[in-house]
Amino acid sequence: MCGSVRPEDMKRIETSELAKAFIDEQVELIKKQVGDKKVLLALSGGVDSSVVAALLIKAIGKNLVCVHVNHGLLRKGEPEQVIKVFKEEMGATLIYVDAVDRFLDKLAGVKDPETKRKIIGKEFIDVFAEEAKKIDGIGFLAQGTIYPDILESKGIKAHHNVGGLPEDLNFELVEPVKLLYKDEVRVVGKELGLPDSMVYRQPFPGPGLGVRCVGAITRDRLEAVRESDAILREEFAKCGLATKVWQYFTVVPDMKSVGIKDGKRTDEWAVVLRAVNTKDAIQATVEQIPYDILWKIRDRILAEVKGVNRVLFDITPKPTGTIEWE
Ligand code: XMP
Repeated sequence: MCGSVRPEDMKRIETSELAKAFIDEQVELIKKQVGDKKVLLALSGGVDSSVVAALLIKAIGKNLVCVHVNHGLLRKGEPEQVIKVFKEEMGATLIYVDAVDRFLDKLAGVKDPETKRKIIGKEFIDVFAEEAKKIDGIGFLAQGTIYPDILESKGIKAHHNVGGLPEDLNFELVEPVKLLYKDEVRVVGKELGLPDSMVYRQPFPGPGLGVRCVGAITRDRLEAVRESDAILREEFAKCGLATKVWQYFTVVPDMKSVGIKDGKRTDEWAVVLRAVNTKDAIQATVEQIPYDILWKIRDRILAEVKGVNRVLFDITPKPTGTIEWE
């Protein structure tokens, strides 16, 4: 499979057999393309980069060098899962970069959403480029480009949306899933043995929890976003909503209100729950979560998340609201 146009007669990869055939074909193509050179991959733990990592591990083993940048805006447990699955279980060469302080320092005091996005994107590329320069023998750069990326944004992945990699990192690309749609990437990922929590995960924006900690990010409010998001995900998984709802998360606006806890007045944040369904993310409807599930999530957030005294459910469709809050 070559070129960047999906042949009209290409079968949709919907079965395990077709996924197996695709994997065999790609493994041979990757071996032929890269020979004994090393291949670099920014591994976020999202579906696309995870499937590309698993394919390359199968094709070239240790010659794939994965770089996982923890920018402090990932969901609870994500960096740990990337290390467990790829390093411990698949034996990948994986460089883990703890860049949490670096990102949060750069973002301190920045309120404007687009400036926040630009800082996160630029910093990501800088950190990745710095790591790449430390490794000898890199000949190629792997990317989890998928077909909608090619159709919608000239093949540039969302996390490279601040102008691509610097010139001196301009390696030849390895893009084994670039002609596949998302659902096909998932079938291939399942066949490669990746866990369901990676293969079927909901869309997660490149700037991560950064756009859900509305306004200027502070470490304590970011922690409230991360912990409340983890509770929402856990409860949705328990009641079957995790596989039914398209995207669900929590938001913590930079606003406090008066409450009462243990007989004392409090001045704390509100956690907003968001759960939406959509086909194309252009319009979205709100999932009608049963009250008993909402109550359970509310009780857990109020009991377990520090600095929170209210829980709200956002019932706004898109339009008029966007899916994210900023
Ligand atoms: P909105 O908020 O525009 O979101 O209704 C539509 C979809 O896009 C995701 N989103 C992003 N994804 N980088 C990304 O990679 C971003 O900056 C970004 N902003 C929004 C959002 O999560 C939803 O799925």
